[in-house]
Amino acid sequence: MQQAIAILDSGVGGLTVVKEVMRQLPQEKIIYFGDTARAPYGPRAPHEVVQYTHQIVDYLLQFQPKMVVIACNTATAVALDEIRARLSIPVVGVIHPGARAAIKTTRNGVIGVIGTEGTIKSNAYEYALRQISPYVRVVSEPCPKLASLVESGQFYTEHTRSVVEQSLQRLKSEPMDCLILGCTHYPFLSDAISDVMGPDVTLISSADETAREISTILYHKGMLATSNSIPIHQFLCSGDPVLFKQIAQSWLNEQIRVSPVVWQVPHII
Ligand code: DGL
Repeated sequence: MQQAIAILDSGVGGLTVVKEVMRQLPQEKIIYFGDTARAPYGPRAPHEVVQYTHQIVDYLLQFQPKMVVIACNTATAVALDEIRARLSIPVVGVIHPGARAAIKTTRNGVIGVIGTEGTIKSNAYEYALRQISPYVRVVSEPCPKLASLVESGQFYTEHTRSVVEQSLQRLKSEPMDCLILGCTHYPFLSDAISDVMGPDVTLISSADETAREISTILYHKGMLATSNSIPIHQFLCSGDPVLFKQIAQSWLNEQIRVSPVVWQVPHII
């Protein structure tokens, strides 16, 4: 099937999922939407995030994708079920894949979760983890400052290091052996996070496992791309395309074209 996989996030975070999809499914065409004009989603009320997710999905449907991937934990936590119920194509979120990867990794049964205020407040990870294994202990911490640092391209600055250190202070004393990066922006900061948490804590990014889930669903439904030609991906963002493009190219390690989206709906911003 030659239609694209639509992937969305509040900003550049979903590119962590895009990178894995490109690696695991090199024949698949991707259309990506980063809602950079309205990021971060973390501090927003759940009903607002649900509304934005519906708007982006509606916008992406004009490209007739074969699947929608909500590559944003904050949006997955509050909107996945509604979007799934509304569409007739498969819809994949990032929380269950991340939870599964953590269960697979943990040896001592203590799992840390960091995410936006919205994700942590929703308890979506705790629920997803306990659904698989009721015996794990889950220690969660909101890290409200991290997504904005990533959106502004500050991955390796001293300021970023100290914000990461402060954000993880409480978690450091917990005996976890793995930590779920429960926000798709956080893999951009994994060096700093790993330095703070130390070598005994494995960082779990849902990107790998989400790409595997996409691959499994497409395979079982007979929807994998069949063309051998290299796909031309499309990147859209609602805010400044210059910074988005710079971050995306360095993360994906390839040249891309970014089109700014001009919303047609006046009440959208
Ligand atoms: N990347 C998103 C997530 O996974 C949202 C970050 C934000 O916009 O606050 O939760």
